[in-house]
Amino acid sequence: MKRIIIQYGGTGDLALKKLYPAYQNLMEKDFSFEVLALGRRYANRQDFLSNLVDPQAPATFTDHLDYLYFDMDDDKAVSILSARLQSMIENQNEVEFIYYLALQPSLYEQAIHQIKEVDGSLQCMCTLTKKIVVEKPFGFDLQSAQRYNEILEKAFTDKEIFRVDHYLGKEFMQNLLLMRFHNDIIRRIWDNRTIESIQIIFDETHGVDQRLGFYEKIGVVRDTIQNHIMQIITYLTMSEPVSLSPEDIAVEKEKVLRSISPISEFHMGRYESLGMNSGHIVQTPTYAAFKLFVNTYYFADIPIYVRTGKMQKDAKSLIYIKFKNLTKQVMHDPSIAENGVIITIHPELTIDISMNLKMPNTSWKSKPVRFRFNQSETFGANTPEAYEQIVQKILTADKSLFPTMKEISESWRIVQPMLSDDLPVEVYPIRTLPRFAAQMAKDNDFTWFD
Ligand code: BG6
Repeated sequence: MKRIIIQYGGTGDLALKKLYPAYQNLMEKDFSFEVLALGRRYANRQDFLSNLVDPQAPATFTDHLDYLYFDMDDDKAVSILSARLQSMIENQNEVEFIYYLALQPSLYEQAIHQIKEVDGSLQCMCTLTKKIVVEKPFGFDLQSAQRYNEILEKAFTDKEIFRVDHYLGKEFMQNLLLMRFHNDIIRRIWDNRTIESIQIIFDETHGVDQRLGFYEKIGVVRDTIQNHIMQIITYLTMSEPVSLSPEDIAVEKEKVLRSISPISEFHMGRYESLGMNSGHIVQTPTYAAFKLFVNTYYFADIPIYVRTGKMQKDAKSLIYIKFKNLTKQVMHDPSIAENGVIITIHPELTIDISMNLKMPNTSWKSKPVRFRFNQSETFGANTPEAYEQIVQKILTADKSLFPTMKEISESWRIVQPMLSDDLPVEVYPIRTLPRFAAQMAKDNDFTWFD
């Protein structure tokens, strides 16, 4: 079968940084497909290749990478794309088109309408199948997500639609599920009888000035909270699925999301220099901290504190599960530390369990000690990148790593209060944490994990 990925946003940040490297790796692993990049930045394939693609890239990749100058606003956009695709299916027996939308959400509606028209115009004596891939954020809010979805579902069947959140392709996410559901001891401690609180910290050092055109209209809530962070929360708090099939996992994730009320305690910030280089100061939030509860029988009353955003001093991505500390009370010893599980995603994937063990040469004094799993030490440094896993699943029509529309809708509902345009936004100097993060910890009587 001839398989062709039609890459909308083919000269954009996502395609260049994540998708093309993933395509290249998959082609090197003998997955067979072609890529047609659509873009307005270059006039032809030669300019595209010489400006955008790594000159060292092997022919196994570049030979399968084509380019079409494509302006969605052009009246002839549909006929131009149809003609190119039509030429690709001549003399083929079996063809699959994979339309991959790596676009601003505001362009989805137009793109899906055009694809529907292109699809309707193709004439082929062969077996022609199609898939559509839509990137996060899917929509701009709940209403627009539902509207795009209606249009999408008129043109494609559910089996043909892949809604991407690349966090589901990450090893730490998949490990989270297995750690929880393949270990009896974990199962027994993973609920509100034992857990006191959960922290999710995703501090990033980079800014968003290089992709301000995209980010300006998106902001931190749509960029990472509505999708990546909500997905992490479902994996941390869902009940055991009947099996690890995509359908059974989705049932449990949807239950979690439905049990979360719209977020009411939150704060937003933006880094001071945002937009300065382009002389275009915008108020788009680049940092947020918030608290929420999962109101299920097993997780009610466990506060989940989240902080995430850009231009921080250190890249720090971790999840901290803090357990209740009855021991210090029972033993009348305030120096006894609580137990915890620390899942570190960046700089490397490790899982630590902290326990108190005796310090030598002391009488009954303990010290917190960590037992560590290190992904690359145990399994070697050959874990595929998230996008490679995602694209592989799309090619093989396996829907296990994609959020459902119900999950996406519930996530929009939860973050809705954080989307309003007139919320206060604290301006923070780069490489510093916004003041509200410390204030939130103080107000809620906890300390951010360090
Ligand atoms: C992307 C966001 O979806 O995820 C970026 O648009 C963010 O703003 C990125 O930096 C984080 O993903 P990763 O894979 O680098 O952890």
